[in-house]
Order: sequence, then structure tokens, then C-alpha cells
Amino acid sequence: MGQLVICDHPLIQHKVTFIRDKMTNTKQFRELVDEVSMLMAYEITRDVQLSPVRVDTPVQTTEGKVIAGRMLGLIPILRAGLGMVDGVLRIIPSAKVGHIGLYRDHETLQPVEYYCSLPSDVTERELIVIDPMLATGGSANAALDMLKKRGCRPTKLMCLIAAPEGVKAVQEQHPEIDIYLAALDERLNEHGYIVPGLGDAGDRLYGTK
Ligand code: URA
Repeated sequence: MGQLVICDHPLIQHKVTFIRDKMTNTKQFRELVDEVSMLMAYEITRDVQLSPVRVDTPVQTTEGKVIAGRMLGLIPILRAGLGMVDGVLRIIPSAKVGHIGLYRDHETLQPVEYYCSLPSDVTERELIVIDPMLATGGSANAALDMLKKRGCRPTKLMCLIAAPEGVKAVQEQHPEIDIYLAALDERLNEHGYIVPGLGDAGDRLYGTK
């Protein structure tokens, strides 16, 4: 089973509180999501492989370490996932970015793919799927399915806030995936919103509705 990591560094908890606050405006919300994403990227990259190299300091030669493992790819789910990309790229500037667009069919309530654009070397990269609100888990599971069907190797799912229902759904359908959250909330309400949550992440990021 993949890990469930709650990134509960005090700086992250502090910023998530303001992200939740309904009085936080669009500009502040966007900046806070960006900052939390950057802080979460430290935790998400904790297991990247290093290899030893010799380095000449002004004093003597010594052994240093440089990042060596597989290259990373970020796959935000449109549109709210976009809000977390720049923060992660500040820590992992060499990552390439693909995009997945999904909407929910009104009758079946199932996620339907409407867009998929992936880097040309995507199958060689370790992929981090980004979905800020892990509610039912339907979109995250569909995105992970889409990537696997295309021969890709998603390994991590990065979210701001999750409901236990969403975590369970991903763990059941994609048990090998490591899930990284800034907060694990109580439940979903009857409208599919995370409680207490932060409302609609896409609307709050882009000032819509
Ligand atoms: N998507 C959101 O943006 N918010 C929720 O609470 C659930 C899904």
C-alpha cells in the first residue's frame, strides 16, 4: 500500500487556515495555494534518489550528492490543479507538465475525459498527479487510469485537502500510489463538498461564480 502523508508542517497548517477562510480574497487565495504547494514539494521530493559526486571546494575535494533518479512530471487536473503547479515548479524546475481535463457527466456522474496533453517523454518520467480537492476520488482515479492506459508511471497524488471517502477510493483503485495532503478533513456533504473544506477550489482560485 502506498503511503498517506499529511504534510502538517506549522507553516502549512497556518497557511491552510487562511486558505479555508471565506474572507480570503482571490489574490490572497492564489498566493497561499502557491506557497503551500511549494512547501509540500519539499515533502514530496524527500525520497528522490541521489548519487555521489566529487566536488572541489576552495579548501579541498570532497564528496557531494546530486539528484540522480528518474525525471519528474507534474500532471495537474484542470482547472484547479493549475493553481498548485508554479509552487511545485519553484522547487523542481526541471519537471515537465502535462494536463488532464475531466468533467462529470450529469447522468452517470462519472468523470469524462475532454483533454489530455502529455510531455513527449512522459513514459520515462515519474508522475505526480495534482488535484487540490480529493472529494469522491472520481477525478483522481480517472486521471490515474488515463495515465496508466497510456503506459505512464504515476507514483504520487498531491492534494491540498481530502475527504476520507476520496482517500479510500484512491487507495482501493490505485493502492500503490502515495497520497500527499496538507489536511485530511471530516467528510463529504450531500453536494459533494469537503467539510469543512474551503468551498470550490477552482472558483476561489479564479474568482468565478
Ligand atoms: N471540489 C472542490 O473544489 N471543493 C470541494 O469541496 C470538493 C470538490
